[in-house]
Amino acid sequence: MRDYHDFLQKKLVDESTLQARIESLGEELSRDYKDKSLHLICILRGGVMFLTDLMRNINIPHSIDFMAISSYGVGARQSTGQVRLTMDLRDDIQARDVVLVEDIVDSGHTLASVLELLSLRKPASLKVCALLDKAERREVDVPIDYCGFTIPNEFVFGYGLDIDEYYRGLPFIGVVNPELYQPED
Ligand code: IMP
Ligand code: MG
Repeated sequence: MRDYHDFLQKKLVDESTLQARIESLGEELSRDYKDKSLHLICILRGGVMFLTDLMRNINIPHSIDFMAISSYGVGARQSTGQVRLTMDLRDDIQARDVVLVEDIVDSGHTLASVLELLSLRKPASLKVCALLDKAERREVDVPIDYCGFTIPNEFVFGYGLDIDEYYRGLPFIGVVNPELYQPED
């Protein structure tokens, strides 16, 4: 596999900017959920870096769980609106105060489907915390209660986000050089 520098057009959000924003999101969540039982649900795999840094910045007791989904019959970028649960949560969420932790909201289809699925399980509350919002690409209206950064319509990678499953561990968000990599649609 090639070095990430080959794909990097520019850094979009550097490490210290990311960490500073996550620190304030953590403070916000700690305030808003002070008297509740905060339950964070991370959507694998993209949300994993964000989840762990967010947890370090939340100063109230909270629990976590994971789920994995995949889009039906489409490439890495486009989603049709149909998602399939490939790994379910371990715990029941009924009567819990759930915050869904997502890497990026693009068309919004993935998030809309996950919200629909989870709300059937009757949580006490259900909110969304997304690190990145590619607002220009939105096709369905979805609520983002806690948003890290609104970003332009460019394919990004790093900090949980992959190029063909690589580079998720980078501590910053980079823009892919479109001459070297085109996500399959
Ligand atoms: P949506 O259903 O169109 O909102 O797509 C959301 C999913 O598409 C995310 O959870 C990511 O897995 C993927 N995605 C969208 N944009 C990007 C990107 O710029 N880089 C990497 N993955 C992306
Ligand atoms: Mg993905």
